Amino acid sequence: MPPTADPNLADALQTLGCGDGDALTIGGLAADALAARFGTPLYVFDANALARRVVAVRGALGPRVDLLWSVKANPSRAVTASLRAAGAGAEVASLGELHVALAAGHDAAGLRFAGPGKTDAEIDAALQFGLGCFHAESGGEVDRIAAAARRRGDRAAIALRVNLPQELGGSRLRMGGRSSRFGIDVEQVPELARRIAGDPALRLTGLHVYAGTQCFDADAFVAHAHRLVGLAARWEQDLGLPLDELDLGGGFGVPTYAGDPTFDLAAAGRGLQQLIAAHDRPARRWFVELGRYLAAPAGVYLTRVVDRKQSGGQHHVVVDGGMHQAAAAAGVGTVLKRAPLLVHAQRLHDDHHERVTLGGPLCTPADQFADQVMLPRFAIGDLVAVLHAGAYGLTFSPHGFLSHATPAEVLVENGTARVVRQRGDPRDALRGQQP
Ligand SMILES: Cc1ncc(COP(=O)(O)O)c(C=O)c1O
Repeated sequence: MPPTADPNLADALQTLGCGDGDALTIGGLAADALAARFGTPLYVFDANALARRVVAVRGALGPRVDLLWSVKANPSRAVTASLRAAGAGAEVASLGELHVALAAGHDAAGLRFAGPGKTDAEIDAALQFGLGCFHAESGGEVDRIAAAARRRGDRAAIALRVNLPQELGGSRLRMGGRSSRFGIDVEQVPELARRIAGDPALRLTGLHVYAGTQCFDADAFVAHAHRLVGLAARWEQDLGLPLDELDLGGGFGVPTYAGDPTFDLAAAGRGLQQLIAAHDRPARRWFVELGRYLAAPAGVYLTRVVDRKQSGGQHHVVVDGGMHQAAAAAGVGTVLKRAPLLVHAQRLHDDHHERVTLGGPLCTPADQFADQVMLPRFAIGDLVAVLHAGAYGLTFSPHGFLSHATPAEVLVENGTARVVRQRGDPRDALRGQQP
């Protein structure tokens, strides 16, 4: 069976605008030529594909939803700028990400800052930049934001991230619905909301929920949003406070490994639009925040075969990239390891397959993309392409391990390619070290 007969692979290639030819193209440029020009390992992002993702999601969610890009998924300035140009706002989770968003052209007043453990220095800096809104994760954090705002003679906008008692069904990695450092338990919200409303250094804007990533169940996502909206209505009544801004979270799933399901964007859009229609009002703002769904399908990780060998009667292929740069593709964080969406970049439709283990140069068995899986026959020098690699790539990887240089990142836009993150240097291993 040719690899592209797998519907997830066929979809992934289509997203990149790859035609029927035998060679992988990304935004119209041959992966082979990109690898020859920029070297490997290499991340390639397709700006036009990123823009198409934003348009598709905004189209599905309708005009009342502001779409936010979760910078954590890929803190590339160029990717963030491409998504901004296509109409996505942004949410950040650290001062570093705030800098990326600003460098990508975002206005601080439009940014939202979520995530536990915001330090006083981060809160101060965010206020100094004129951050739009903090998503508070605890009462203590609210107090520290208030103190910082007071010190500055400022007023800080806060939305409360709610830890709903229900889990987000259908998601692979759940971050709520139980005791959690993410969000504030429902029972604690009313008192905290009152405290914020009574503090002249603070302004309560609304509520936020984000309870899991890799959600493949659109109905479960919509049901979760319903719960938040229901609570907002109840608390508005009980507390007499407006909760105008509702961030319904994100985490829409993207197939990453062989056999993964797909997320029904149209169904999620329909469900959210119905929910919004029932609870809308002029002052209300609705948000959805997405990382993976926007960026993963628009990125490819290219790595070249360095070695082949036989051991214990099995074929092994060793590539120049690995888990230190593409940890998610290597299955880090998953229990049952499966191969990522992976193709032979120079022979897409080759059905001359062999059972092979394919891994990188790290000194750990975990550095493995495929374990005795039927894959195209890769020779030394061939190019392996990991698809759906545009999110949680380098940023989610232990790139310090074994001190390899970090890969370059290239953005393809309207038929031209440019480096948007320079390749590292092996001497970076010494950066900042003292004898
Ligand atoms: C608060 C928050 N928002 C958004 C995201 C982005 O999630 P995803 O990339 O699955 O859409 C995450 C991911 O962990 C998150 O923690």
